[in-house]
Amino acid sequence: MIFSALVNAAGLKARPNCAAIDSGRLCGYNNPSVNPNDVDATMRVRALSARGGRALEDIMSLTPISGRLFDGSGHKITTASLREQKLRHEPITCLTAYDYSAARLVDEAGIDMVLVGDSLAQTMLGYENTLSVTMDEMLHHVKAVRRGVKNALLVADMPYGSYQVDPKDAVTNAARFMKEGGAEVVKIEGGEKRAELIRQIIDAEIPVAGHIGLTPQSVNVMGGYKVQGKSLAGIEQLMRDAVALDHAGVACIYLEGIPREVAAMITAEVSAPTIGIGAGPECDGQVLVLHDILNLTFGPPAKFVRRYGDAAALITAAVQAYRSDVRAGQYPSDEESYHLPKETKAGLETVLARKRAMRR
Ligand code: KIV
Repeated sequence: MIFSALVNAAGLKARPNCAAIDSGRLCGYNNPSVNPNDVDATMRVRALSARGGRALEDIMSLTPISGRLFDGSGHKITTASLREQKLRHEPITCLTAYDYSAARLVDEAGIDMVLVGDSLAQTMLGYENTLSVTMDEMLHHVKAVRRGVKNALLVADMPYGSYQVDPKDAVTNAARFMKEGGAEVVKIEGGEKRAELIRQIIDAEIPVAGHIGLTPQSVNVMGGYKVQGKSLAGIEQLMRDAVALDHAGVACIYLEGIPREVAAMITAEVSAPTIGIGAGPECDGQVLVLHDILNLTFGPPAKFVRRYGDAAALITAAVQAYRSDVRAGQYPSDEESYHLPKETKAGLETVLARKRAMRR
């Protein structure tokens, strides 16, 4: 009974008010005053714009953000524009990037959010999991990505150990991502139990993205990378987590490895945009790891990964062709070589001829 109601909820296009879902105690966690579903979305967008979402007369500073004027005329994605996208039901796109060249390609392709995920531990640094990556390693990559991103919203993942131990250190580390790394949002794993810390970080003027469901930094506690929220108790906890993050004021919530039906309920319940990975199509947006969609991960992909290209095949073929050209003496050609200017060449030939004559 409950589950058929959840499936119905997931199937509804116009996100339902949770009260309309016959899911008993699984709904109604949120304060109705912050639930966007009680008003027609278009009216909400208009109201938001009138309050200063985009109108130039309301912009108090023309200081460029990431090289763009923050006057609503460009395409700079901000935490405010993400919320507008949610209200307009316009899917949000997010991909990871870990270095300058990838960041440029992703940004210039028009992706809304670039996440410097701690997944770089595995994809870039070859660690076994995300637990080993350090603040300094993350910062190094965030700085490189910052140099490549113009329009997308830049999100930096706070690594394991940088926020779990001491709230003061957590705020200091989050500030380093903003100040030294140029990030615009920091991401923190965990729900209800992180809400107070997230408030403190936001108090320091640092936007925070939540991350719940399958949270890889908790791999040892979860006993593996397992889909979360499959039991009623699990769903209850996820709903509480999402609402706690929403009330704490997060800029968005990443939903990883949870059933589609649960992600749909969370998305309908919270005002923050939800960005799913292995969480079904009803999320406000989707994120994937760049290396996954390009086949650069050296293993079988997870169920939710769609491969959009085969960079491994492309790179391997190019490297093998280069190797065989060098070994066959076919690289570099004369056209690929630099040459002396005519006069220098003539002078050089005269010198060499003289040397040869002296040796005879
Ligand atoms: O580190 C990462 O890439 C992430 C995404 C999978 C959400 O956290």
